[in-house]
This record gives sequence, C-alpha cells and structure tokens, in this order.
Amino acid sequence: MRGDSATHLIAFYPVNQFTPANGFVVEEPAVSILIVPLLEIRNLTKVFALGESAFGGRARGELRAVDDVSLDIHAGETLGLVGESGSGKSTIGRLILRLIEPTSGSVNFDGHELLKANRGELRQLRRHMQVIFQDPFSSLDPRMRVEELIAEPLVIHTNGGSRLLAGVARSGIRSRLEELLKAVGLDQSAVRRYPHDFSGGQRQRIVIARALALRPKFIVCDEPVSALDVSVGAQIVNLLAQLQREFGLTYLFISHSMPIVRHLSTRIAVMYRGKIVEINSTDQITENPQHPYTKALLEATPEIVV
Ligand SMILES: Nc1ncnc2c1ncn2[C@@H]1O[C@H](COP(=O)(O)OP(=O)(O)OP(=O)(O)O)[C@@H](O)[C@H]1O
Ligand SMILES: [Mg+2]
Repeated sequence: MRGDSATHLIAFYPVNQFTPANGFVVEEPAVSILIVPLLEIRNLTKVFALGESAFGGRARGELRAVDDVSLDIHAGETLGLVGESGSGKSTIGRLILRLIEPTSGSVNFDGHELLKANRGELRQLRRHMQVIFQDPFSSLDPRMRVEELIAEPLVIHTNGGSRLLAGVARSGIRSRLEELLKAVGLDQSAVRRYPHDFSGGQRQRIVIARALALRPKFIVCDEPVSALDVSVGAQIVNLLAQLQREFGLTYLFISHSMPIVRHLSTRIAVMYRGKIVEINSTDQITENPQHPYTKALLEATPEIVV
C-alpha cells in the first residue's frame, strides 16, 4: 500500500465483521485510521570536513551540521523548522531532497527509501518534491521568459528536455501554464516577460508556480519570505497557505521567524546546533515550551504579524 499516492495517508480497515470479543457483527460502517507519514527521517547526520590548514595539512576537523535527526512529516501538514543561523536547517532540507548526500541515516518519502533510489527512481520521486529558496533573484534564470521558466519542469518531464519552446506551444502545457499563473495570482500577460520586469514578491510567485508545475506532494520552503518586505512576505505566506489547502500540499517550512512559523505550521521543530531539541504542536510550543532555547526564541520574537 505504501507508495500508492491514493492510499498513503489513511488506510481504511472495515470492521463490520464478527468479533470474538463481543460476538456480533458491527452493522455500522466503521473504520480504524492508520496515519502513515509522507516523510520519515531517521538518524540523519551530515558531517562536513572543515577546510585544510594554511600549510596544506589535513582537514582541521569536522562539523556535525545535522546530528542524528529523526522526524516525521505527515501528508497535508506544515512542519515549521526554526533555529538560529547555522543550526543546520537548510542542510536538513538539502538532505531530504538529496541535493547533498548524508553521512548516515535514512529518508523515506512516500514509501520509497530516497537514499537507496537509483537515478531513474530519484528522477520520478523528485517530481513530487520541490524546493522554494529564499532568494527569488538567484533562483530564476534572467535570460528565460516566464513561460519558459514555469514550463521548463513540464517540458523536461514530457519531452526529456528537448524542444523547449516547441513544447511550451503545445496546448496541454499552455493551459497548465495559465492555471499555474492564476493559482499564484499573476496576470496572464506575465508569460512573455523576463524576471527583471518583476518585483521580489512577483518573482517569488513565479518561483512558486514553477515549483507547482509537476503537481508535487511536498515542498521544502527554505526561508521563502526572508528576502522580502514584511507586507509582501505576508502575502506570499498567505499564498502558500492557500495553495496548500487547494492542492493538498505538505510543507517543510524553514524560517528564522517564529511569528511566521507559528502562523503557518501544524507542528514546529526547534533546531539547535544540528539537533532537534524540541518538536511539538504549534500550540504546545507556543503555550508550553520545554527547551530553554525554544523559550528564548519565543521571548525574542514579537507577536504575530501576518
Ligand atoms: N557545504 C558545506 N561545507 C561546509 N560547511 C557547511 C556546508 N554547508 C553548510 N555548512 C555549515 O553547516 C552549518 C549548518 O548550515 P545551514 O546552512 O544548514 O544552517 P541554517 O540553519 O540553514 O542557517 P541560516 O539560518 O543562516 O540559513 C553551518 O555551520 C554551515 O557553515
Ligand atoms: Mg539556511
């Protein structure tokens, strides 16, 4: 059953059958629900070798950027990941997407062990896992028109990467492009323009449309609004929440900002020096933080602004 997108979240077990304990058939349709995480991370560790010494000697040591992290992310939820700069948040995101290889540990996505996947399997899995980075300026190729930027993932997955413009012209891709622009609140006239014609918030909308192109299940949002003005950032946060409801998306939402994370997240994981020091529901983290670092983070941040 695992890996089947239709059933990965909830398994229904009919119980309208004879049970020795009570001796009768349960007439009412009843189900027991088993929730299987979309993503299971176990004992994930990433050790970076620190640079060579000035005299060309051996590496000066190592940095455990991610240190024995285990966590689950359930379908449809947003797991917020907070922590100070350098605590290992982005490294976790990159490990999940297998943009970098872990030192040890495992990542299971939708029933597939990511770290054992071969190139072909990884390519298929990557359709369902996307990333939105902080900086919309560097994530978009300035020489490509919006239509090419958004359609590129579609074309790559349908044509094997060839005939980009011819592919864009095809009606299926064209109508998907229109849907995507509408979903992220951009005017249809945007298609012919280049990234430099747009503001930071609009560029992040283009990035989001591109990330949605292949109908992913899961998106790592790595500080997606930190480069934006507060009010523009708030609009993007609200857009992400709306898209999640509309398309049933699951997010890992990485941020320095406790108010934004609290606004968006079902649960929050607090990271400190490579480790998850606390993970709990947003209410529990907010009302009843256990770890001193979580308390410090909450005290250091103003009330919610979104
Ligand atoms: N490729 C690399 N080589 C060596 N060290 C690295 C590498 N990538 C990250 N690091 C180090 O790993 C640690 C964790 O980095 P990471 O980028 O995951 O932190 P972060 O929590 O995302 O920080 P920020 O909030 O500033 O984005 C940092 O000390 C960083 O310098
Ligand atoms: Mg980071």
